[in-house]
Amino acid sequence: MNDIKNIREIPFGAMGGIYEQDDIEAVMNAVRGASEPGGSFFPLPEETDFQNAFAAHEGAAKAIGVNSCGTALDLCMMALDVGPGDEVITAPLTFVCSATCAIARGAKVVFADIDPATLCLDPQDVRERITDNTKAIIPVHFAGLAADCDAFDAITDETGIPIVYDAAHAVSTHYKGQPIGGRGKANCYSFQSNKNMTTLGEGGAVTTDDEDFAEVVRQKKTFGYVYRPALRVVSVGFNYRLTKVQCAVGLTQLAKIDRVIARRLEAFRHMHRSLEGVDEIIRPAGIETGHGCHLYVVRLDTGKVSFDRAALLGLLKNKYKVGCAIHYPAVWSWEVLAELGYDEDTANCPIAAKVCQEVFSLPLFPHTTAEDCEYIACAIKQSLSEAGE
Ligand SMILES: Cc1ncc(COP(=O)(O)O)c(C=O)c1O
Repeated sequence: MNDIKNIREIPFGAMGGIYEQDDIEAVMNAVRGASEPGGSFFPLPEETDFQNAFAAHEGAAKAIGVNSCGTALDLCMMALDVGPGDEVITAPLTFVCSATCAIARGAKVVFADIDPATLCLDPQDVRERITDNTKAIIPVHFAGLAADCDAFDAITDETGIPIVYDAAHAVSTHYKGQPIGGRGKANCYSFQSNKNMTTLGEGGAVTTDDEDFAEVVRQKKTFGYVYRPALRVVSVGFNYRLTKVQCAVGLTQLAKIDRVIARRLEAFRHMHRSLEGVDEIIRPAGIETGHGCHLYVVRLDTGKVSFDRAALLGLLKNKYKVGCAIHYPAVWSWEVLAELGYDEDTANCPIAAKVCQEVFSLPLFPHTTAEDCEYIACAIKQSLSEAGE
């Protein structure tokens, strides 16, 4: 496709996974079972089954299902006893909760810069920001591309500082051919509606190879309970549980995750090919390296154009009806962080500061077709030439 004759509408924000008859039946069966005489929404063997299946899928010893990735990160910060006086290092290019999980514990967030090729946290820059107060490091497997886990392991080996990955984008992501769920101290996944798999709109999990850590997270997600030999409350905890129905659907979603990722990867490759040779657009790295294919994030190479991202996205949205999203504005730019004194100058992450002005995500979902990709690429090329006029 070289020219756009007919405008098509390609919104951003479709469902990230695939919902089919088996998911609907899983919901119906869970509700039916709970409604039978003597039935209830507790106990939930589905939770154990789902946690075991998710841990196996992500290559971790343990998975703890929780109601979101945000709460997964909160729980990890609590389990690591992060508190006032502590510093937690994370990336500026991420969703706000990778930082606010530390702020909520009274800790200070220290931003480190990102690698301009992968857009993931740069381990070398992290090293330079470590102090005696650094309590944890939160790299993000950005867009579904694994962070440099070996380099972060080396930091833990040398300093003892635990790594908690924000794996919201990373269901099915691999690093050097292996799933990432057991890497670092923990990985925090999201099953929110637009993610690679979803548990009825919300959900998440913590995975870890550390059984003691898993037990603390498990306790805190459910009021600090220990059930055996008698019920005790051993720490301050919360109710961050998934429901029986969500766990039942988590199992059907997991059963089809390989198919979902294969479709996402196919769309990724189409998009990548369709954008080849568009000089003003920097395409994402790492597509053939175990990428979870959650987001297709491109950059407008602002050094090569006379307009900004807003002008381009305005044309794409209003003229060509292609919805794009921004993942993400720099974390320090959200007003809550600004009010706490975080800003671009003190963060001192020049690569992320630039990249955050350039990134945008193209619509890429399991149902995205080759024709969609060609249309999107063509709309980008036309918008680039029109924005420059
Ligand atoms: C990088 C990142 N971390 C964390 C989250 C939070 O996930 P949840 O909505 O499951 O809390 C998101 C949500 O989009 C995200 O993109």
